[in-house]
Amino acid sequence: MITGIPKEIKNNENRVALTPAGVQELKKNGHTVYVQTRAGEGSGFSDKQYSLAGAEILPTIEEVYLRSEMIIKVKEPILQEYPLIQPNQLVFTYFHFASSEELTKAMMKSGAVCLAYETVEKEDRSLPLLIPMSEVAGRMSVQEGAKYLEKPMGGRGILLGGVPGVRPAKVMVLGGGIVGMHAARMAAGMGADVTILDVNLNRLRYLAEVMPPNVNTFYSNEYNIRELIPSHDLIIGAVLIPGARAPHLITRDMLKHMRPGTVLIDVAVDQGGCIETCKPTTHEDPVYVVDGIVHYCVANMPGAVPYTSTLALTNATLPYVLQVANKGWQKACMDNKELLAGLNIVQGDIVYKGVAEAFNLPHIPAEVHLNKQV
Ligand SMILES: NC(=O)c1ccc[n+]([C@@H]2O[C@H](COP(=O)([O-])OP(=O)(O)OC[C@H]3O[C@@H](n4cnc5c(N)ncnc54)[C@H](O)[C@@H]3O)[C@@H](O)[C@H]2O)c1
Repeated sequence: MITGIPKEIKNNENRVALTPAGVQELKKNGHTVYVQTRAGEGSGFSDKQYSLAGAEILPTIEEVYLRSEMIIKVKEPILQEYPLIQPNQLVFTYFHFASSEELTKAMMKSGAVCLAYETVEKEDRSLPLLIPMSEVAGRMSVQEGAKYLEKPMGGRGILLGGVPGVRPAKVMVLGGGIVGMHAARMAAGMGADVTILDVNLNRLRYLAEVMPPNVNTFYSNEYNIRELIPSHDLIIGAVLIPGARAPHLITRDMLKHMRPGTVLIDVAVDQGGCIETCKPTTHEDPVYVVDGIVHYCVANMPGAVPYTSTLALTNATLPYVLQVANKGWQKACMDNKELLAGLNIVQGDIVYKGVAEAFNLPHIPAEVHLNKQV
């Protein structure tokens, strides 16, 4: 299959959808790979590395779209990219359709086949192409938290790990899923005194088993949260209720019970945030202060570490990319239910129920398209 890797043009997006190692794997399987010039620059991969791995470098984004059967991207297409997408072209990327009617309608109009990373789903309901970004955001939340706890950054001026004779910082993690677990492990590794809260008792049992001794587990409810906040220095919001807005576990009135310079990192900001006073921020201007409490609410945290994020993402996507390239999207989706769950829009039809419901549009079962001649 002829595969194209365009350079991401969304503001501040430095990730790229395939590494030179991924190009090499596709070439080994007999495929042609076009990479737009400088597509990998932001993640530290040069045109030369891609050429050596077997890619052909194309000078413009137009040529990449024009010559490819499958486009692999990172972010959803933006306005300038809509006209480049061709009927029947397969586009494999993060789309997050339910949050944009404009994008949904544009992709329906394009006649393309849209395979969304975020809905590829395993039998146990886990989302293998979302997990790597949660791992990155979870680990990064502690790094950012440690930085903003420093006095010149507006924080309390406490060192996360303390020193002999001085107590370490106290870190509270709301939600013990992928983000929460990675945050707790990082904070514990830096020597902090960590408490992790969840409503899922089985998850708490698991965490109690695998976490280091400086991590305590706690059941999540308002009473316990109110009891813990006055003594904690860094609070990380990492809850998720699938398909719903995040619940406000930290309310505005709770801020006055925290010490000035306490740092709140709301990783769940992309789901509306679990801190009432959270509003989305950017890497250019990541923090703001409410009632003396520092808020960090960057919605695309992995974008700040494109090298790590690109490798983490492509480690997870490449096996699926290879299946689609080797078999074509129809057979690959017939053979693998995980990929089938990733189909969102096919040649003008919405085939993913949640997206159709979000905009009150008709839902056509994906199976209808699997046996059609394309
Ligand atoms: N800001 C970013 O850049 C970024 C990056 C990756 C993920 N995220 C977001 O981070 C959030 C967490 O993602 P995840 O992959 O860890 O999800 P996950 O499903 O693995 O974990 C969520 C956890 O929250 C728990 N939970 C639900 N309600 C709770 C409550 N009331 N109190 C305490 N815990 C509760 C669940 O039991 C679960 O264990 C999501 O909103 C995700 O979109 C943001």
